[in-house]
Amino acid sequence: MANVIVIGTQWGDEGKGKVVDLLSDKADCVVRFQGGNNAGHTLVVNNEKFIFHLIPSGILHPGKTCLIGNGVVIDPSVLIREMDLLLEYGLGVTPENLIVSRYAHIIMPYHRILDAVREKRKGKTKIGTTGRGIGPCYEDKVGRNGIRVHDLLDSRSFLEKLHANLEEKNFVLHRFFGAEPLDPTPIAEEYLAYGERIAPFVGDVSEFLHKADQDGKNLLFEGAQGTHLDIDHGTYPFVTSSNTLAGNACCGAGIGPTRIHKVLGIVKAYTTRVGAGPFPTELLGDTGIRIREVGGEFGATTGRPRRCGWLDMVVVKASIRLNGLAGLAITKLDVLSGIPTLKIAKAYQLESGQRDTLPGESDALQVCRPEFEEFPGWNENLSTVQRFDDLPANTRKYLAAVEEMAGIPIAMISVGPRRTETIILRHPFDNP
Ligand code: GDP
Ligand code: IMO
Ligand code: MG
Repeated sequence: MANVIVIGTQWGDEGKGKVVDLLSDKADCVVRFQGGNNAGHTLVVNNEKFIFHLIPSGILHPGKTCLIGNGVVIDPSVLIREMDLLLEYGLGVTPENLIVSRYAHIIMPYHRILDAVREKRKGKTKIGTTGRGIGPCYEDKVGRNGIRVHDLLDSRSFLEKLHANLEEKNFVLHRFFGAEPLDPTPIAEEYLAYGERIAPFVGDVSEFLHKADQDGKNLLFEGAQGTHLDIDHGTYPFVTSSNTLAGNACCGAGIGPTRIHKVLGIVKAYTTRVGAGPFPTELLGDTGIRIREVGGEFGATTGRPRRCGWLDMVVVKASIRLNGLAGLAITKLDVLSGIPTLKIAKAYQLESGQRDTLPGESDALQVCRPEFEEFPGWNENLSTVQRFDDLPANTRKYLAAVEEMAGIPIAMISVGPRRTETIILRHPFDNP
């Protein structure tokens, strides 16, 4: 029995979806614990591509229970769309394989509108959010004005909260942002219908996980976003509005920290970032464009081109510290084939001198100059390699350098989007 958390170590899109799908094989429950449909987790199974924004990436495995914890913010229309899409593939989503926390917060239309008008007002200083209403929904949660899943199941409570919220939101939308005020009637109709649709799936995630844990089941927690998008420890203010770190799996699902056995960090073999914010190893020229094209680095949620750059071990080492990582999964190694010389950042040069730890202020990170170590590249196609020893010598050298800089072992190597395109060195559920 083991309970494992999977976390992105960079700025998101590291390939968490692929790894979670793969590990789900040996898990009994797969749990999302934070974020919302700002996430886009891609799975390629039987040559079909699935992108999940809310439903945990274990859903394609029969006999597993997928759970959406209290820490997630839910846009019910997106959840229902994902359920319908799975049905089209003949994969039924039932209360046996999906449980939605009663206590998760609901993304309302005014959250999406506020997200958009705030970004517009910020102009050049905008964060580049996904526009899904994530920030405003978490604001209402922390401000104790939120509407939760259980409110959708009780029309009186829902209407009361909707009217109270709209009184304030309409004032701000209309008077401050010059936007149209919202009419509560169609919103109530729409959301109460969502409530009816999701009612059979609503449950107590914490209680369910406690029982599953006591019964010796394997629990897999699926992080969304990445460590450096964390609201506290990320590149503030260019972050998302939730804690993305492993520690939040406990709060966001309702399980105690003593019940977690291992945290696996997903590291893309280079770095990407969507939206604004500091990115010391960003490649603005041809190599960056090449990585974007070969790696298909376009947002799974918004379709935006992702900014691409060299692997930054200062960033990854901060993630090892912040998440207590036990091992790394290196993804998209195949994308680097054909680049003559590869670089990995080991330290930064700042006005105050050299440092090999991450500065906490975005302003400092914005102006730092990364110090790189260079590695000879390789030309071989890696996607068919099944064993570590069959990787080209230069690929093994690159991985050995990553492992040495990280100071923790590489547990998995991903060389393509499919399940089979993976070299597993240490399966986290086999080595608790
Ligand atoms: P997530 O948000 O961390 O789940 O990552 P995304 O799904 O947003 O982005 C990762 C993309 O890379 C997806 O299109 C995956 O199908 C793809 N992918 C994952 N692992 C690999 C890999 O090892 N090689 C290649 N070429 N693609 C991969
Ligand atoms: P997955 O789970 C990459 C980024 C947005 C923006 C910032 C804030 O697929 O790795 P938000 O809408 O959350 O308020 O936007 O965070 N962002 C992501 N970037 N992958 C994600 O999720 C992201 N979720 C949010 O681009 O810069
Ligand atoms: Mg993604």
